[in-house]
Amino acid sequence: MAGRIPDDIIMQVRERVDIVDLVSGYVPLKHSGANHLGLCPFHNEKTPSFNVNSTRQIFHCFGCGVGGNVFSFLMRMDGIAFPQAVRRLAEQVGIDIPKDEPSAFEVQRRQEMERLNKIYEVATDFYHQLLLDDPRAAQARGYIRRRGFDSEAVRRFRLGYAPDGWDALANHLKQQGVDADQAKELGLIRSGKEGRPDYDMFRQRLLFPIDDMFGHVVAFGGRVLDDSLPKYINSPESALYHKSRILYGLFQAKNEMRRQRKVVVVEGYFDHLALVQAGIENVVATCGTALTTDHGRVLKRYVEQVVLLFDQDKAGQKACFRGMPILLQAGLQVLTLELPEGDDPDTCVNREGAEQFNQRLDKARSAIDYFIEVKLNEAGDNAEQRAKAVNEILIMIRHVPGEIEQDLHLTPLAAASGVQTELLRRQLERTEIPKEPVRRVAPTAVAPPQQEQPPAHGDDDYTFVADNSDSGGYADNDYHGNFGNQNQVAAKARAVKPVTDSKAHRWLLSVMLADETVSSTVVEKGLKTFFDDAVYRYLAEQIAQAWQQKKQPGEWLLDHCEQPEQQALLTQILIQGKELPNENIEEIFGDCQLAVARSQLKQRRAELHALMREAEHSGDLDRQTVCLQELTQINRQLKSRIV
Ligand code: GTP
Ligand code: MN
Repeated sequence: MAGRIPDDIIMQVRERVDIVDLVSGYVPLKHSGANHLGLCPFHNEKTPSFNVNSTRQIFHCFGCGVGGNVFSFLMRMDGIAFPQAVRRLAEQVGIDIPKDEPSAFEVQRRQEMERLNKIYEVATDFYHQLLLDDPRAAQARGYIRRRGFDSEAVRRFRLGYAPDGWDALANHLKQQGVDADQAKELGLIRSGKEGRPDYDMFRQRLLFPIDDMFGHVVAFGGRVLDDSLPKYINSPESALYHKSRILYGLFQAKNEMRRQRKVVVVEGYFDHLALVQAGIENVVATCGTALTTDHGRVLKRYVEQVVLLFDQDKAGQKACFRGMPILLQAGLQVLTLELPEGDDPDTCVNREGAEQFNQRLDKARSAIDYFIEVKLNEAGDNAEQRAKAVNEILIMIRHVPGEIEQDLHLTPLAAASGVQTELLRRQLERTEIPKEPVRRVAPTAVAPPQQEQPPAHGDDDYTFVADNSDSGGYADNDYHGNFGNQNQVAAKARAVKPVTDSKAHRWLLSVMLADETVSSTVVEKGLKTFFDDAVYRYLAEQIAQAWQQKKQPGEWLLDHCEQPEQQALLTQILIQGKELPNENIEEIFGDCQLAVARSQLKQRRAELHALMREAEHSGDLDRQTVCLQELTQINRQLKSRIV
């Protein structure tokens, strides 16, 4: 792969592509004041809140908060990485991106990958044609019909039929001049023993072609047409096929996933097919593999919500509970949908029909609530068992990024378990995520070209890692700043949702964007003093870094900001920002500092009010007094207008 694209080329591309043109290719836009306005392609909306600003060449959606420049738009829209977005736009506007001369090894590797892809293409086609009209596939066609699927589904997912006999594909591949060793590497044919000829891996099976991110078939799943075992066989892992990264149906589902910001995850090929046929397009299947962190990362690119819709049996439930922490940790909101006992999605949707099933789908509920219910039920009345269950639940809750989000799950847990919220809260603080080896995607040294590439920069891959390390942005919110007297009460404050007056903070950020001196002053005084929200703080840090590197932070950050939250914040500031008069920057900064300080005091005041109520509730007089003292002090400060 070519190396990092030089900054000046990125800049040239950015300057030549017009964001209004680019976006208009996807979304109809109307002129409205300084901006262009349209329906956001990244979430579902009826009234337009998607703004494109041609002066600043950025977009921002006031509905879902997404924002960025031409590159981030394309990255999100087409699910591609930053370098790919730059390259694609460069091509459109006729800018040559110098390519590092690929090594001989690299050239060879790419050709090899192309050949392997081609082999699957040939095999898919061969099997698909058979299923469509070969007399040998009559039984398979009957089987599909009996299960309630039509030929449209067959065509759309290019289902195939591997005939009985030993050499149908082997012969076909030979005729097509395919190298037998490569077909073996891919697990399509196997070597005959004791001088016998090579034979087909899939025989007398219905085949589901499995696509990679780019719609290339990289494996097959093959089902028997009767009750014989094994029910399924799958292609082995190969240079093309990495089970842990692939979700069945993703390629077809991703547009709808992006639109709804939601995906339904099922277990089986037939469940997938049944949902799609019922008009539910945002669905992928795990196909018997456990969900991995890679899956979580891939899903996070497209959606915020995952509905786990697994078989209603022990195995399905187990798979659900194993998948939950992984998805939660990836920053996804996880829901579950229960079906009647013993059902699976395929039978349920076929029995009930699309409309009724869709109504069910709307009733998906928090997976954590479901987990709470199941675990406590299992524990019954036995105190030890219940305690164990509660601890297990707390571990699950611990996987949710963001302390506030975690805390919000304690109320239902308290209600269901009968354990006091306060006690749960203390316990939660002590609960640690067991050190299971959470597998991270190490960018493979030799990744096939059509697999996702380790990014040069700005790619979602990094976003994922950063997301995790920052626990969703709230992990180290301690709200103390330099204000008020901190005491033991402070530690409890995390139950309160932050009421940060983000307007003041946004204002401060825009002053930092406009003025290098202000930016360095803020850094000197300590970012934590000003910004208690991690997203704001991080952006401030990056602005300062941009100045240090002698870049205009606004533009530079749009290209280099790796986290979507920060991009969104940045574009919001830029799109709302007015030009700041240079001569008054000091004064404005002064006002900003005051506003931020006031907002922090107000926030602390809100926390104290909550703590007071709690203390009153539990009759804790000492705590009430401490709170009251701090409150009085804060009120005095606010009134005096010193801050
Ligand atoms: P039906 O029973 O035909 O409805 O198939 P299903 O797709 O619903 O299968 P099931 O719910 O039993 O299993 C879910 C998924 O696990 C399947 O779609 C397969 O991907 C995988 N799977 C099931 N059985 C096997 C097996 O024997 N071997 C392998 N490798 N995978 C299996
Ligand atoms: Mn099934």
